[in-house]
Amino acid sequence: IHKTLKVDLKLKNKLDEKTYNFFKIISEVALKLKMKAYAVGGMVRDLVMDMPIKDIDIVIEGNAIIFAKEFANIIEGKLIAHNEFKTASVIKDGEKIDFATARQEYYDEVSSGLPHVEESSLKLDLYRRDFTINTLAISLNESFGELIDYFGGMKDIKDKKIRILHNLSFIEDPTRVLRALRFAEKFNFLLGQQTEKLMKNALDLGVLNTVSKNRLFLELNLILKEEKVVEILGRINDYKIFKYLHKEFYIDESCFALIESAKDFVKMCTFFCPVTFKIEAIYFSILKFCFRKKFNLISVLGIIDDKMEKIYQQMLQINVFLSKKRKKSEVYFFLKPMPLEAQIAAFSITRSSFVKDALISHIRDLQSTKPFISGKDLIVLGLKPSTAFGKILSDCFERQIEGDFANKQEAIDYVKNKYLN
Ligand code: CTP
Repeated sequence: IHKTLKVDLKLKNKLDEKTYNFFKIISEVALKLKMKAYAVGGMVRDLVMDMPIKDIDIVIEGNAIIFAKEFANIIEGKLIAHNEFKTASVIKDGEKIDFATARQEYYDEVSSGLPHVEESSLKLDLYRRDFTINTLAISLNESFGELIDYFGGMKDIKDKKIRILHNLSFIEDPTRVLRALRFAEKFNFLLGQQTEKLMKNALDLGVLNTVSKNRLFLELNLILKEEKVVEILGRINDYKIFKYLHKEFYIDESCFALIESAKDFVKMCTFFCPVTFKIEAIYFSILKFCFRKKFNLISVLGIIDDKMEKIYQQMLQINVFLSKKRKKSEVYFFLKPMPLEAQIAAFSITRSSFVKDALISHIRDLQSTKPFISGKDLIVLGLKPSTAFGKILSDCFERQIEGDFANKQEAIDYVKNKYLN
């Protein structure tokens, strides 16, 4: 028997001011439109676990698109509606709030394509979800800020358990197998006994081969983005999950070592390069590299994303290029246009310390290197602007990369000696 626990979450203390105000406005819109609104999903889970919250997901008992339109008007946000799914997003100052019509999803046939959507109540909506820990909701109605826990999510959070809600959960959506292990490792939870049993049964039934490859790939991406990527992949290994996709798909110690090395290098890079990069592309390239002699990871996962393939190819090119002795400037100009992801992956898969050193120095020092002198400096020196400028500047920059000058003055002296006689 499920009952609503009367827990006041004291939202004002837990949320930042902006989110709290959004919730207040949503509550006013709900009253005005005579609809009911609830915050749901990962955000509520993270909130009650005192973890930083990410996206805001709102479920509406009523038409979510009409609701979102009204909300967007008030906060002067941008509305993106998906009529087919009865969902809408409102974007304001880079923040996104998703609105969904409370719905009961069902699938045409197991694991195929997109869900049909029917209007229904919050409880049914939550019942369709993956794990109890993700079924918590916060009322944004009369009892503003009250926690709604129909399926024992709070108890499972307390007991540190990942539990599905009904026996067919993994069959209905096989990507939940990967989600279960991702959440378990992320939060340091265990799978419930029954959940683990049903997961193994589903795997033995071959469910992973029935799910669309793209969805599988998206779940793998989420895993590769997690801080605990190594631990999650380790769990996936324990259950031999990838073997259901290909008999030789098992991550061995040497592959884990490459991933670990990438992880350490990524830490260094984030410290030195304030640029954002797709960490999942790095790990993906490494995984593909590990299995290259056995099978093509791209076709096993049926990936349509050719950016991933490109980074993999660039990673290989970098290693081939750096395996020969090169001048510093050659390395610089070769690596400059290469995505950081490919450089980091190349660092991780190589055993050559020369290659490693070249990549470290490029990423740490050279990536942000600016030429000491510009065209303006040449004019100040008395040179007349001409096509020769490009040649002089690139000559100077090459010398700079080679380490011939330590500062701007030395570069200017070089120009004077060579070009001003
Ligand atoms: N969901 C599900 N089955 C899936 C994917 C998602 O039931 N295969 C449900 C989950 O209950 C989840 C909600 O949809 O809470 C939103 O999904 P998502 O945004 O992917 O996950 P979050 O729970 O928000 O978790 P996180 O963002 O931390 O991965």
